[in-house]
Amino acid sequence: MAGRVTTSALLAALALSAAALPASAAAKQKRCPASGVGCSLKQVAAQSGIFVGAALSNKISATEKSDIAANFNAVTSENAFKWSEMSKTAATTDFAATDRMVAWARAKKLRLRAHTLLWHRLQNAPWLKAELATAGDPATRLRQLIAERVTKVVGRYRGKVEIWDVINEPLAIFGAGYDSEETPLTPKNIFYTTLGEGYIASAFRSARKADPKARLFLNELLWDARVGDPKSDALLALVARLKKARVPIDGVGIQAHAMLGTSSPWFPSTTASLKRYIDALGRLGVKVEITELDVRLPLLADQPDPLAAQAAVFRRVASACAQARACTGLTVWGQRDSDSWLDSYSLTSATAPNSPLLLDREGKRKLAYQAVAAGLLERRR
Ligand code: G3I
Repeated sequence: MAGRVTTSALLAALALSAAALPASAAAKQKRCPASGVGCSLKQVAAQSGIFVGAALSNKISATEKSDIAANFNAVTSENAFKWSEMSKTAATTDFAATDRMVAWARAKKLRLRAHTLLWHRLQNAPWLKAELATAGDPATRLRQLIAERVTKVVGRYRGKVEIWDVINEPLAIFGAGYDSEETPLTPKNIFYTTLGEGYIASAFRSARKADPKARLFLNELLWDARVGDPKSDALLALVARLKKARVPIDGVGIQAHAMLGTSSPWFPSTTASLKRYIDALGRLGVKVEITELDVRLPLLADQPDPLAAQAAVFRRVASACAQARACTGLTVWGQRDSDSWLDSYSLTSATAPNSPLLLDREGKRKLAYQAVAAGLLERRR
């Protein structure tokens, strides 16, 4: 093939030409070209019909405000809605940060995913274990606490929060079952060990009652989102059981943290395998969203052009979402590379800066930004 253009050269050219376009020209642009050049992800979202979002910290800093307004049409609360952040004691719920976030998102006309009502592994209610240890009947007490939390929090934002991550990461961190005992990597799933799998249905039913119009999601951390992978198949089976029991689940979030290294599916996996998995979920009658996408750059250090290799991973995930009709949104887990949780998380801080996102530390668009735009624009509305 004469004059083979490498991916990185093409992506670099695309990024350069995007940066070269004066903002006014880009803003006036009616339709984005297939490459996405000259378009913000907000414009790509409008054209493709796929929501494009970023994780939003409690503080909602000035840089986040400018980044979000220019680049996204959706946000997910990174920590504000977690039980440990809202309830420091069994008797109290602090709505200050969540009220601020909901009001801001609505003022900016950003679709808000409230993450998450129940998560056993991290940021669970710090007082919960002690509360159950002193309860006469722990199962009844826990059922009551879950119903109270869900009803109170979802009810307060009735009509204001479009999507709830009702349950986060119910399945074992690795494998197909549940965390039924404490391990060095993860605490046991206290919801499951006290109530069995039924805790999931109870939480969804309480949420539906508290806000019949909100869309209710189960959000899961999959290392290999592929039909045939044990944990991915366990999630398909769980969703099938919930739908069969007429549990009001509307959607499934696939987190897509590409953090395990090049053995992780987000590196070698093809667009086709991820699309096939999203289609399998869609056939169960749920919508699907990519909910926490980030790609650790240091894991690609051996590539000739790590930033282009990172962009190729983002492209594969965005293309799969565009091609799979059940996919309604793609969210990256932070806005600027400087925002990322990976730089402070014990297992990944050693490779900081991980530079896993779409905007660099100065808020400039990376090759990955362009790659997500082009991937999502494969969606023919
Ligand atoms: O709020 C406390 C504060 O009171 C305290 O002073 C401070 C210092 O210790 O810690 C603060 O809590 C931190 C919390 O983020 C809020 O900022 C925790 O230490 C910190 O571990 C926590 O990290 C979050 C992480 O979940 C662990 O729970 C990250 O910001 C967040 O991005 C990350 O997000 C999760 C998703 O919710 C679920 N999927 C996996 C993803 C990555 O772990």
